[in-house]
Amino acid sequence: MTLAELLDKDSLRFLLFGGKGGVGKTSNAAAAALWAAEHGREVLVLSTDPAHSLGDSFAQDLSGGEAVQIKGVKNLFGLEIDPRKAYAEYQQMAQQPEMEGMGEMGGMMGLGDLTDMTAPGADEALAFSKVLEYIQECEYDLVVFDTAPTGHTLRLLGLPEMLDSFFGKLIKFRLRMGNIFGRIKSAFGRGDSEQDNSLEQMEKLKENISAARIELSDPDRTRFVIVMIPEAMAVAETERLLQALYEFQIPSSHIITNMVFPEVPDCTFCKSRKEMQEKYLDQIREIYDDFTITEVPLFTHEVRGLPTLRRLGELLATGTLPELGE
Ligand SMILES: Nc1ncnc2c1ncn2[C@@H]1O[C@H](COP(=O)(O)OP(=O)(O)OP(=O)(O)O)[C@@H](O)[C@H]1O
Ligand SMILES: [Mg+2]
Repeated sequence: MTLAELLDKDSLRFLLFGGKGGVGKTSNAAAAALWAAEHGREVLVLSTDPAHSLGDSFAQDLSGGEAVQIKGVKNLFGLEIDPRKAYAEYQQMAQQPEMEGMGEMGGMMGLGDLTDMTAPGADEALAFSKVLEYIQECEYDLVVFDTAPTGHTLRLLGLPEMLDSFFGKLIKFRLRMGNIFGRIKSAFGRGDSEQDNSLEQMEKLKENISAARIELSDPDRTRFVIVMIPEAMAVAETERLLQALYEFQIPSSHIITNMVFPEVPDCTFCKSRKEMQEKYLDQIREIYDDFTITEVPLFTHEVRGLPTLRRLGELLATGTLPELGE
């Protein structure tokens, strides 16, 4: 299936763009989202990279915490998720009176401090669960993810597993503690009138995570597009990324080789770079022969703003780069 066919596929709901730092994830995610929106789909483009640049790409502020319409495009909405905000929300929940004592009790039971989510990656974990919650409540035809560079995204992809077991433990523990506290309270004549919705919130989060795992592993609904540049380091990193995608059962069938040097007559520098890239392009075609590979040339300018994103989107979707000014 070509990238064009993939973008046109009605059942596709989640399209993730990932790869090494600086290879063009944001630009390609933005361009694909724009193309889909201008071809009749209701699209949300979402950045999960804490170092956001999606807003830059559209030359518009997307950091307000709510999806906003991309100016000048009817069906396109954008949002940069803020991990710190999601983390603050979790902390608020963990600090509710009925959660008191869970830290030490968790430690005593060998589960670790259940209210401590300061472990590396925890803020991302929470941001991710926030994303899932958000997606399930929203009515978009397609959600395009602009992910962070590989290392961070790998952690993110492993999070449903991690969170599932984390919240599983938390819920079981809370239930057990709830029974004990309940008995103590009734012995002292205090009913269960105090409001307690932390358990409900955790259950909801856990359900969202399980549902997302099913969605993200369904090849009809989800695809992870790997963006890379034809250089040695990018090839090595793609291997790592692919292994993780396989492990987390996230379908991936398309690669974008970005910033491919164009033919420039009488330029020895360009010729030498092109030869270097050709060597890696051959390697990529050979190693990933079961993937659909789309080549994107190095543009003369940065890929920013609607006109350039539109050209790139057209190239991704049709395989042909429109002439400038078209
Ligand atoms: N095909 C291209 N031709 C010319 N410039 C490009 C191309 N693709 C991307 N760029 C430019 O390269 C820079 C990096 O691109 P982009 O931000 O899309 O990469 P990224 O992978 O999202 O980076 P990060 O890992 O920092 O999030 C940007 O300035 C972008 O405009
Ligand atoms: Mg980016």
